[in-house]
Amino acid sequence: MPLGAFLKMGLTAGIVGAGLMGHGIAQVFAIAGFNVRITDTDERVLSQAPSRLAASLAELGVEESTVLSRVAVSPSLEKTVDGCDVVIEAVPEIVELKRRLFERIAQIAPSGALLASNTSSIPVTEIGRDLPDDARRRLVGLHWWNPAALMPLVEVIRTEVVSPVYFDRAFAMMRAIGKEPVKVERDIPGFIGNRLMHAFWREATSLVHAGVCDAATIDTVVKRGFGLRLAVLGPMENADLVGLELTRNIQRVIFPDLERSTEPSPLLDRLIEEGKLGMHTGEGLRRWTPDEIAKTKRALSAHLLDTLRNGKR
Ligand SMILES: NC(=O)c1ccc[n+]([C@@H]2O[C@H](COP(=O)([O-])OP(=O)(O)OC[C@H]3O[C@@H](n4cnc5c(N)ncnc54)[C@H](O)[C@@H]3O)[C@@H](O)[C@H]2O)c1
Repeated sequence: MPLGAFLKMGLTAGIVGAGLMGHGIAQVFAIAGFNVRITDTDERVLSQAPSRLAASLAELGVEESTVLSRVAVSPSLEKTVDGCDVVIEAVPEIVELKRRLFERIAQIAPSGALLASNTSSIPVTEIGRDLPDDARRRLVGLHWWNPAALMPLVEVIRTEVVSPVYFDRAFAMMRAIGKEPVKVERDIPGFIGNRLMHAFWREATSLVHAGVCDAATIDTVVKRGFGLRLAVLGPMENADLVGLELTRNIQRVIFPDLERSTEPSPLLDRLIEEGKLGMHTGEGLRRWTPDEIAKTKRALSAHLLDTLRNGKR
């Protein structure tokens, strides 16, 4: 991690939305030496941002006070965005909310500022639809992964109208702050990572809904089976390893039988109707005690920290 690499340049990043993603993104910029400003419309979330940052910095083993001294929180969008070199939006996944927000950001931010959305799924061209041309050319997608401080990947999304200069700047900036950016050359829903993940989840929920196995078995098959290989052997590498003829033969048998629904799973509909919304309600696809939730989160952080520290491939 390039601690303080940007310190001498005096660059400022504005983060709009201090929730789960926003505070993590803020942390990465602050560690890299940016002056960071964070805003949120929810006073409670905003007031918690410094302590959330401190806890996360302690977990990373980064000296807190120097990094935190570069972070300012404010309820004012104007104060946050004015004079910024880069502005990253991380508010809820609602296209109209993001559109209206970027209209305001474009009016306040300097005319040369890089503008970015952390949307998970909405084509960024759609988010920037109503902006003046000058601002649309400076808007990219920067899709970070949770937890932002620990996950190396950032997908950099090329909109239909972005200037190549700003797209390249966004890519270079992500690399310079210690992330592993990839280019998404077409602005399609879900980009690359979420398309892959939800294609996989569609089949997983379909198998449970059809009674082939229970949800716990899906997790075991992935965690104790092919998931173990995934961090060192991506799917393209794996197909090459087993050979493309075998891959094609398997696809011929399986593809006609795979789930192809264009609607979310009826299993999700049923669970949601029953109030089983996931960990925060104690039950979703699996049942969760507070202890199990804490243990799972600790295990995930430890695994990601270990990967980050040891530079594992
Ligand atoms: N949660 C994830 O795993 C994840 C991963 C990658 C990307 N994303 C994307 O990041 C974005 C934020 O997700 P999150 O999980 O951090 O959500 P979150 O709910 O934790 O945080 C969003 C914050 O935005 C604030 N907000 C709402 N309207 C605002 C406004 N007008 N101005 C300033 N702040 C405002 C809310 O008060 C809230 O604190 C979404 O687009 C989401 O799809 C989420």
